[in-house]
Amino acid sequence: MVDGLGEARALFDPAPGTIYLDSATYGLPPRPTVEAMHRAVDEWQAGTADWVRAWDMRGEDCRAAFGALIGVPKECVALLPSASVGVGTIAASLEPTDSIVVPDDEFTSLLFPLLVAARDRGLSVRTVPFERLAESIEPGTTTLVAFSLVQSQSGRSADLSAIVEAATASGARTLVDATHAIPFVPIDAQVDYLVCAAYKHLLCPRGVAFMYVAREHWDELPPVNANWRSTSDPYGVYYGGPLDLSPGAARFDVSLAWFSWVGAAVSLKLLDEWRRHGILAEVSGLSRRLADQLGLIQPVGSVVSVPVENTEAVRADLAEAGIKAAVRAGSVRLSPHVYNTAEQIDRAASALSRHVLQSAVT
Ligand SMILES: Cc1ncc(COP(=O)(O)O)c(C=O)c1O
Repeated sequence: MVDGLGEARALFDPAPGTIYLDSATYGLPPRPTVEAMHRAVDEWQAGTADWVRAWDMRGEDCRAAFGALIGVPKECVALLPSASVGVGTIAASLEPTDSIVVPDDEFTSLLFPLLVAARDRGLSVRTVPFERLAESIEPGTTTLVAFSLVQSQSGRSADLSAIVEAATASGARTLVDATHAIPFVPIDAQVDYLVCAAYKHLLCPRGVAFMYVAREHWDELPPVNANWRSTSDPYGVYYGGPLDLSPGAARFDVSLAWFSWVGAAVSLKLLDEWRRHGILAEVSGLSRRLADQLGLIQPVGSVVSVPVENTEAVRADLAEAGIKAAVRAGSVRLSPHVYNTAEQIDRAASALSRHVLQSAVT
């Protein structure tokens, strides 16, 4: 029998002795990604690269791979440097009559562009408990629901289909930040907008992010960052008008930080292969195993947040076991990926078990 996870794991080089469980902070790159980036830098140094073919067009590979990962046509995907740039574009389309629902404690890259629009244009942003998003949509009043599908701080997942159903019935749109969901949580409902930073669970370099825009909204968002890359002929015309925009969501592209996209093309291709071979489902199994051993609710995605009694004691025990995780006041966030093993998960569970806040245990 082929050990899919084992084959995938062989492509990574975490430091010896380190159990890396912090993909929600930044994901580790597979070796072929790093090699492609080294080659690009060498060609840059030597001045030998054909920048269009070798570097810029890798963005098109990424557009197609991201579309395949979430099951949407590539024409609906824009290439961005960060999630907030996508939210800023959507925020630029909002009007004083808009009424937006967001969860309490939403990540600022999603929340702040909306708050800026509220401050400058007078639209309303209402915060509600994360688990009450669907029922907080007011028919005829709410025009947009914006939320992280998986919360970065807690690993909790929103009920995507219930929210989309309530939004559709009420005439509201949905803006999903799927940064901590993809590639482990299926996007199985028709959303209007989706943003995703790729440097975490998509194992890409920083500077790579995506925005999905449903076809019917292409003409409604202002392409505020229009540039040579977002035209119908990116490598043809660089000077002068008239305004020319890509017919698809590429009109929202921001010109690419080349080396990051060279690496991203390789990581995304591998992720798509792993998804098709069921290897990503095995990662979700690792997260469930961890939650089970600690007596916590099983996550829908890969992120497990462990409420703890004493953060400093936890930090010491994790260091002793060589475990890298995100330790915050009152909790530890662990986020497995293909580079982790069941044995590592068991070691993390045993390092953490005595620290788990008993009131969180189910
Ligand atoms: C939910 C969420 N969205 C987006 C990001 C990244 O945002 P940006 O790409 O704007 O830096 C993070 C980073 O931690 C995040 O947790």
